[in-house]
Amino acid sequence: MPTPLLDLGLAQTTPHPFGLEVERAEGVYIYTTDGKRYMDFISGIGVNNLGHGHPHIKQALHDQIEKHLHVMVYGEYLQAAQTRAAQALTSVLPDALNCCYFVNSGTEAIEAALKLAKRVTGRTQLIACKGGYHGNTHGSMSVSYNEKKKSAFRPLIPDVAFIGFNSMDDLSDITPTTACVLAETIQGDAGVRIPDLAWMHALRKRCDETGALLILDEIQCGMGRTGTLFAFEQYGIVPDILVLGKALGGGLPVGCLVASRERMSLFTHNPMLGHISTFAGHPLVCAGVAACLEVFNNENIVAPIEKRGQRIASFLRGLLHVKEVRQRGYYFAIDMPSEDHVRHVVEYCMANGVITFWFLSCPWSFRIAPPLTISDAEIDEALAVIEEAIRRCDS
Ligand SMILES: Cc1ncc(COP(=O)(O)O)c(C=O)c1O
Repeated sequence: MPTPLLDLGLAQTTPHPFGLEVERAEGVYIYTTDGKRYMDFISGIGVNNLGHGHPHIKQALHDQIEKHLHVMVYGEYLQAAQTRAAQALTSVLPDALNCCYFVNSGTEAIEAALKLAKRVTGRTQLIACKGGYHGNTHGSMSVSYNEKKKSAFRPLIPDVAFIGFNSMDDLSDITPTTACVLAETIQGDAGVRIPDLAWMHALRKRCDETGALLILDEIQCGMGRTGTLFAFEQYGIVPDILVLGKALGGGLPVGCLVASRERMSLFTHNPMLGHISTFAGHPLVCAGVAACLEVFNNENIVAPIEKRGQRIASFLRGLLHVKEVRQRGYYFAIDMPSEDHVRHVVEYCMANGVITFWFLSCPWSFRIAPPLTISDAEIDEALAVIEEAIRRCDS
């Protein structure tokens, strides 16, 4: 039976979508209406970092529903859920990132961050990185790199330039007319591209020299995914604006930008309501954010991730056909000899109860990004299926 809207394929990523009919999800598993069980080895594309239905998050959401849902647009009333979420987030960030602003999605948070950079610097040039992905609205699409996804929507916003991710030479393109440089700390859609420590330091330095703001997009690589709560911690630098989303909401739709109070306060005037949205800071979403951060605080989730991730990577590197594995924490891209190999692996895994996936801008790799809460036994179960899928690429 075709589903209204979805049968048009409006939001599917390939011409051959899996179309699982979901009944419920718990822990690392998604259960479908036909009685099957699938291991979510991609965390719903970097959202379910704490697995599905974490009891602490569920309880916090139930409690908030009992209290209230939307009462007013963001910022007019004081709402405890918003305050709790903001306190929980700023308490785990460096002092300079002491003011957060919740919005509805990652792409909206990028929009707001770009606007804030223009407002702070009085400049217009936006520099982003080759290979980067930042969302699908006009502004964030303008600073994303994949031309195939952009060309039908031109003209996009003006005064955007791209530098090579990890290119020392290109840093000279950042000048005193640059409002900001936007980079994913670790690129996701480009196929888990990990920049050098030296480049990150040089990028921070060049931004300081020129007065350009450094915006780090950790919408996908944040929230423990790469083995530290935030990926920038591994580089010993602090961005001027940090952008979060995806896993931050514990499964609820959220985006967030974090900056200094001084800079963020520029949204209050000239013009007032510099970035406003009816549902921004929604109390249920903020309850999800606060609960998610409480789980990270109370459970030893992040510390073991890098070591366990390395074990997975070294297993995958030993498999026939695997050309390269890029890994940081539980963030993996596995390069195969061809797109056909990727399709075969992803489809075989799905047919055998393990969800892996594509990268839109890196078609010769497949992605895995398991929930951080997954057990070693569950990892081994999934790896056995992936191993068999890859072995069968020959037949
Ligand atoms: C690095 C990065 N930035 C921005 C976005 C856009 O976030 P959203 O899909 O919530 O708008 C994504 C989504 O995949 C992302 O991975």
